[in-house]
Amino acid sequence: MCGIFAYLNYLTPKTRREVLEYLVTGLKRLEYRGYDSAGVAVDSEDGKGIVLVKQTGKVKALEEAINESMIGHDIDSPLMSHCGISHTRWATHGEPSELNSHPQRSDEENSFVVVHNGIITNYKDVKTFLEKRGYKFESETDTEIIAKLVHHLYMQHPNYSFRELVEQVIQQLEGAFSLAFKSKHFPGECVATRRGSPLLVGIKTKTRLATDHIPILYGKEHRPHGANREVPMMPRTESTSEFQPLEDKEVEYFFASDASAVIEHTNRVIYLEDDDVAAVKEGALSIHRLKKSMDDSHAREIITLKMEIQQIMKGNYEYFMQKEIFEQPESVVNTMRGRVNLNDNTVTLGGIKEYIPEIKRCRRLMLIGCGTSYHSAVATRQLLEELTELPVMVELASDFLDRNTPIFRDDVCFFISQSGETADTLMALRYCKQRGALIVGITNTVGSSICRESHCGVHINAGPEIGVASTKAYTSQFISLVMFGLVMSEDRISLQTRRQEILNGLKNLDAQIKDVLKLDSQVLDIVKDLYQQKSLLIMGRGYNFATCMEGALKVKELTYMHCEGIMAGELKHGPLALVDDMMPIVMIVMRDGVYNKTINAIQQVKARGGQPIVICEENDKETMVFAHKVLEVPKTVDCLQGILTVIPMQLLSYHIAVLRGCNVDCPRNLAKSVTVE
Ligand code: F6R
Repeated sequence: MCGIFAYLNYLTPKTRREVLEYLVTGLKRLEYRGYDSAGVAVDSEDGKGIVLVKQTGKVKALEEAINESMIGHDIDSPLMSHCGISHTRWATHGEPSELNSHPQRSDEENSFVVVHNGIITNYKDVKTFLEKRGYKFESETDTEIIAKLVHHLYMQHPNYSFRELVEQVIQQLEGAFSLAFKSKHFPGECVATRRGSPLLVGIKTKTRLATDHIPILYGKEHRPHGANREVPMMPRTESTSEFQPLEDKEVEYFFASDASAVIEHTNRVIYLEDDDVAAVKEGALSIHRLKKSMDDSHAREIITLKMEIQQIMKGNYEYFMQKEIFEQPESVVNTMRGRVNLNDNTVTLGGIKEYIPEIKRCRRLMLIGCGTSYHSAVATRQLLEELTELPVMVELASDFLDRNTPIFRDDVCFFISQSGETADTLMALRYCKQRGALIVGITNTVGSSICRESHCGVHINAGPEIGVASTKAYTSQFISLVMFGLVMSEDRISLQTRRQEILNGLKNLDAQIKDVLKLDSQVLDIVKDLYQQKSLLIMGRGYNFATCMEGALKVKELTYMHCEGIMAGELKHGPLALVDDMMPIVMIVMRDGVYNKTINAIQQVKARGGQPIVICEENDKETMVFAHKVLEVPKTVDCLQGILTVIPMQLLSYHIAVLRGCNVDCPRNLAKSVTVE
């Protein structure tokens, strides 16, 4: 999983220094998608060739490498038209190294260079095909075959346009990709395309755009062929006219994996669909497809993003994760805004409204996701069973696919994903869709693949989440699923009292989250005694078991400390053997339906010398008796309590990570959005 950023200016003078600055800044915004190496490609000083600068490590290291390599070169002369492409990588094929980083190139002349996010599954076949034709490979990446294939096709068909060559290339590729190409044979042009990995185009003009849509130019139907024989040429798109969408010829274009990289330049963007090929030539953007898209669209809409630049900056916080934890009083309100009406106790979810009668008739609900998103399903399952009176299954997307789980036409499948791009979740979605189930997307990313491929859905409106560890998205996913339960039970007379208490709970949630956040310094004090430990157990049950799993995931991914979320009911069946006076333990003990059972568990822990840090309700003196240390959180209705108990765990993992000197926003080996299996 990687980040792609490309920048193109046309009749808008820019120096190479400025272009490089744009590319580096774009990559910094995308660094959360992967950060083991990075690279850029820009025109050479004489404009006749392409210069590549690549570096292992983070974008900062690339920035230094660029500064060094440009010493003694003219990078301050204005260029009227220029295209630069760049990439930040998270290794899938080949270790992080300069050779394996992108842009990958076709030959020593850098005739064609390409940046790629995704995985090409048939790369070995294409590689064999190209090796037989004399191509020598220098990297271990799957991406290099793309650069070499486009070169091979160019040699065979020098009369083809850049866009046509790319169209031919992608028909030979299997797997997932978003790609941006640059070529010394097509100066000032950029071609970008996607299938299964995200890509958008940002447009910046001096005057207002003449249109809100870019029409799609379609070609003939085609059938992809295998690639291990002479490359069969596909029909070229029939249309020859390039569409000029702008009144004003002076224009800048950006291609990026997501909006956070373009928002400081423009809020006008087009989300590309799978198999769109977007080409910029002499300032004109055109979007081509060889076959009609699923939705049969004739145009791609230019969307105006509402995201503010401040939203994606760190503000006064040390880390994005810290900022995102402290944003929760606001983000939970944004999730409910315009949906929860406390005057008449109604909840409206516009994105699924029309489907509610169908959902009510379903056989079962399935909640599917990965990592933190999966935990939000675990956290709300019990309530959904209660409010919908339907069987509710929660599934890890990867395991769900491994099992070839039976799915029926009258199943309703929820796909929960912050990014909306997680490959496992997306593949599970397609699996269920093929079998005729109703698909509901619960995502935080408008225009993401899961959004687009769902029949209906709820946007959680948590705002951009940049820290790799998910925090505010979790609480917003949680609330979105609770709101769904409330919608489903609106006409159940027997559930009205329960609905009312939940609605009251939602009303007070932001103020209560603010109170929980005041525990920050107390959490830090606890962490000072804890951060050098090897292991940590987090125990609870019922509505708070999800907090244990989510807390343990946060601690593991951020601090590299071993940590386990333990269902307190399982204690006697094994985990109790871990408990002694040295083992750090956190226990979540709320006054809900499982209080007495949880007290049993805490007594067992105490009997083995355990010294639990207890998260309990404010002023619950009876429970505090068992605590070595205590964190008191406000009381809310049982089914929402998990929102208030997870926040101390987020703070705890954050502080352990800081004290252990870990990189909070970019934990090792991880990336924000996992677009590969
Ligand atoms: C953990 C975390 C991951 C994600 C998981 C799914 O802090 O962020 O476990 O929750 O990779 O990602 P999304 O929600 O984007 O599908």
